[in-house]
Amino acid sequence: MLVTGGAGYIGSHVVREAMAAGHSVWAVDDLSTGVENRLDSAVERIDLNLAAADAEARLTDILRKTKFDAVIHLAARKQVGESVEKPEEYYRDNIGGLANLLLAMRATDHDTLVFSSSAATYGMPDVDSVSESDVPTPINPYGETKLIGEWMIRNAKNWGLRGVCLRYFNVAGTGATGLADTAALNLIPIAIGQLRRGETPKVFGDDYPTPDGSCIRDYVHVSDLAVAHIMAIDYLQQEEREFDVFNVGTGTGASVFEVLSALREASGIDFEPEVAPRRAGDPPKLVANVSRIQQVLGFKAEKNLVDIIDSAWNL
Ligand SMILES: NC(=O)c1ccc[n+]([C@@H]2O[C@H](COP(=O)([O-])OP(=O)(O)OC[C@H]3O[C@@H](n4cnc5c(N)ncnc54)[C@H](O)[C@@H]3O)[C@@H](O)[C@H]2O)c1
Repeated sequence: MLVTGGAGYIGSHVVREAMAAGHSVWAVDDLSTGVENRLDSAVERIDLNLAAADAEARLTDILRKTKFDAVIHLAARKQVGESVEKPEEYYRDNIGGLANLLLAMRATDHDTLVFSSSAATYGMPDVDSVSESDVPTPINPYGETKLIGEWMIRNAKNWGLRGVCLRYFNVAGTGATGLADTAALNLIPIAIGQLRRGETPKVFGDDYPTPDGSCIRDYVHVSDLAVAHIMAIDYLQQEEREFDVFNVGTGTGASVFEVLSALREASGIDFEPEVAPRRAGDPPKLVANVSRIQQVLGFKAEKNLVDIIDSAWNL
């Protein structure tokens, strides 16, 4: 199996799960945001920027020499704010990188792909829980690159690609020592960093139309998410599977205040969060409707918010 972005936070958990399921794994990763020693020594890392001018040729060469049973494509840039400031770089790297991968797969008859999509494709949905059948309307270039990526994969079924796009909701937690999310871009790693530095975690906005006024998100444990990838590959390897999109979440929302209260418990540090003004572009509520992934893939997240916070704090 080939995993792009295998040295990343989520990719390293996917690699681990794939190896546990008996796959031998190669990783494509330029370490732009990844960490080399997240990868097991049994994993061969190909040092390649997927969006570079020579990437299509290099990938084609690699895929011609080694036949992979499946490809999981996680490598991408993922900072929403940065994508607003530098949209061209996000289109070049996220869309260009995927185009190079698809061209190489097509040229070498690789036909099974799982793609990291995102709840950012939905934008600001005004519903209790959002379904794959709701019209995606991303509100920033990052979310657009993910939606365009889904279209590219859907269109590639014309030459025989079988693709699953997994729309991850808020991924958090840690599955093993050394694999933690070190980027501090999301609520849980940011708040943990603040507590460890003796600072007070912040809540951005307490006047949203939610029960406690703070934003509600669907937090899914990274180890559960990793399992969903392996289930998606198994699904694609059955007859007549061409293209599908699945939400990956728990179906349950937690507010920022609830997350910080679970962190207060896990850390044993007593704190009162500081309330700051709302940030632009935060939907009040973003929770996955998970019926489709449950019914079609048989996937159900096993871990809850306490498991997520405990593992993120302790590992
Ligand atoms: N973390 C989340 O909550 C979340 C939510 C939704 C979707 N996603 C998506 O999941 C994927 C993985 O996210 P993550 O949180 O593990 O991020 P990450 O930054 O930890 O991992 C990305 C990995 O890809 C590598 N990479 C990036 N661009 C590359 C390129 N052009 N060529 C080769 N390697 C490259 C990086 O070095 C890194 O190892 C991304 O596609 C992201 O958009 C993440």
